[in-house]
Amino acid sequence: MPAFSGRAPGKSILFGEHAVVYGRPALAVPVNQVQARVSVFADPLGPAGRILIDAPEIGLQSELSALPETNPLRLLVTACLVEMGIPRLPAVKIRINSSIPVAAGLGSGAAVSVAALRALSSFLGHPLADERVNDLAFQVEKAYHGTPSGIDNTVITYGRPLFFERGQPYELLRVARPFTLVIADSGISSPTSAAVGGLRARWQADPARYEAIFDQAGALARLARQVIEDGIPQQLGPLIDQNQALLCEMDVSCPELDNLVAAARAAGAWGAKLSGAGKGGNMIALAPPEGAVEIAEALRAAGAVRTIITKVETAG
Ligand code: PMV
Repeated sequence: MPAFSGRAPGKSILFGEHAVVYGRPALAVPVNQVQARVSVFADPLGPAGRILIDAPEIGLQSELSALPETNPLRLLVTACLVEMGIPRLPAVKIRINSSIPVAAGLGSGAAVSVAALRALSSFLGHPLADERVNDLAFQVEKAYHGTPSGIDNTVITYGRPLFFERGQPYELLRVARPFTLVIADSGISSPTSAAVGGLRARWQADPARYEAIFDQAGALARLARQVIEDGIPQQLGPLIDQNQALLCEMDVSCPELDNLVAAARAAGAWGAKLSGAGKGGNMIALAPPEGAVEIAEALRAAGAVRTIITKVETAG
């Protein structure tokens, strides 16, 4: 039985995570080495409306209707049917495969949403344009996470490096000279909603202090955009380090991430910071040409459970 499939990459935030939730700009890039892939198969013998989910990497095999109403898969199937004006699906099996680690700052949830919307809309004969995929994936993120900025679904839908400000049209980044990142996973699972909620409580207790930190993070993102567009990537190093210092002030880092950041710098990285929600998950190191493999080895020796070397370029 032929399947209809959709794919989406992982992502990494270069500058401005958390501050982006409070309206400051941020920069993000796709990470194509990890992918979510969703396939929809017709199930001709099943009763209309029965949707079987098979997600082997997270050990999930279930009828969709047995999952909680707030489950993001349920939300996105509903959003897709409403969008297409179709009351219900015929019987189908939806298989989800993803090499993107969950709760690790690489956008696994948004990537599954984007891939699933692409697969389902193709199955229904009306593949959605990226703009609609992005909007619907954002709706699902909002229902699930509360206050997402929209950066994850946007960079993952378009698969290109971009400059993002909440509520504004995204802008593509022109990467004048490609540069290399080493991404390292601390192995600590950290749900986005917990890190974002913790910071919100601190911000509510002392808004002036946190608004000033967010302003500095936003200014760094603007400066970094200029540096990337001018083609002098090593000048990003000190900006990345300054962003990490701000993330520590926000109290979203943790000893394991601090340790990986220090190890990357000691191994010759131009700069290093956590990436994504923090309190675990991944960090990134900006590597000089030829230095990436050594930095990745140093990060694994310092406790990273996996490393990815990725090149940032305009083609994404
Ligand atoms: O879900 P993560 O770990 O990729 O992080 C998302 C980035 C945040 O700025 C922390 C939240 C958001 O909605 O932008």
